[in-house]
Amino acid sequence: MTESQFTPRVFSGIKPSGNLHLGNYLGALKRFVDMQGPEFETIYCMVDLHAITVWQDPEKLREKTREVCAGFIAAGLDAEKSILFNQSQVAEHTQLAWIFNCVARMGWMQRMTQWKDKAGKNSQNASLGLFAYPSLMAADILIYHATHVPVGEDQKQHLELTRDIAAKFNHDYGVDFFPQTEPVIDGPAPRVMNLRDGTRKMSSSDASDMTRINMIDDSDTIAKKIRKAKTDPDALPSEVDGLEDRPEARNLVNIYAALSDQTAEQVLAEMGGKQFGEFKPMLADLAVSKLSPISSEMARLMGEEAEIDQILARGAEKARAIAAPILQQTYEIVGMVGAGKS
Ligand code: TYM
Repeated sequence: MTESQFTPRVFSGIKPSGNLHLGNYLGALKRFVDMQGPEFETIYCMVDLHAITVWQDPEKLREKTREVCAGFIAAGLDAEKSILFNQSQVAEHTQLAWIFNCVARMGWMQRMTQWKDKAGKNSQNASLGLFAYPSLMAADILIYHATHVPVGEDQKQHLELTRDIAAKFNHDYGVDFFPQTEPVIDGPAPRVMNLRDGTRKMSSSDASDMTRINMIDDSDTIAKKIRKAKTDPDALPSEVDGLEDRPEARNLVNIYAALSDQTAEQVLAEMGGKQFGEFKPMLADLAVSKLSPISSEMARLMGEEAEIDQILARGAEKARAIAAPILQQTYEIVGMVGAGKS
């Protein structure tokens, strides 16, 4: 089966653990909004079942799930144009994940860098769910036969594994049932770095809040974090080559480019020669002007809990309408009695 035989369909997800931050926004959410349109059917998910692969306080998880939903909508996703829901409301994800647990190999999972990073030296004590995480992620995508998945750069390996699982399933059962999904990792900031250490990724799990910009930060906090971001003493170069070995400078230029819908080349053509003392306030103004309307809309929506829950319930219903027949066909292919007509 060629890819053109599948409906052009986008799926992506964000874990409702920790705060939504600038990395999530530039690497994922902003690009979810860009892909919402006539070209694709778009499905975006708060992956609460992935969140609990590490401990989550139940009340906090509920709050964060609603907060991510508020972030989706505040950033420009429209529940009439995209399907928005939380993963646990569509049981087909976990049902397909079980099948994929029986397709994926232990060695594939052991190679995942996120498993190695997160389980660390204490892997015997990590949850089984954390190990099987990528298999549920493949199920999230393939239960919709999604053809395109916009993500940040850190998810690349998981998407390669998704393709391997689809290929092995198709091969083992002699079918052309699951598509080879295309990762969509683009834009100037597929990997937003930590503001205090340009060699590490911006993350909600870093102990210091000064390392990241949260989507709910107020204008003063955003400006302060940018002012205090680590830099080097040199002026900005006029060309991208000049950013080599300057990870912090490169990160701020990429953030500027992504927020202003330009390339890093375009930013440097204009900013080359400026010192950080001049560039940082410009970046802070830009970040505040782009992010504060989103954070105030998020805060407003967070007060509308019933509305958020209704959006998620309606989204889940629409998602299930796509997922259920694909699960039934999968069961039929695998040989489960009671599935389909055979
Ligand atoms: P999560 O929740 O860690 O991150 C959500 C999205 O944000 C991107 N991202 C970043 N992009 C650029 N720079 C950063 N510093 C940065 N930090 C995070 C991530 O790449 C991601 O796109 N496993 C996924 C969630 C998931 C998923 C899926 C994604 C579950 N099922 C199916 C796509 C399709 C994750 O933990 O993302």
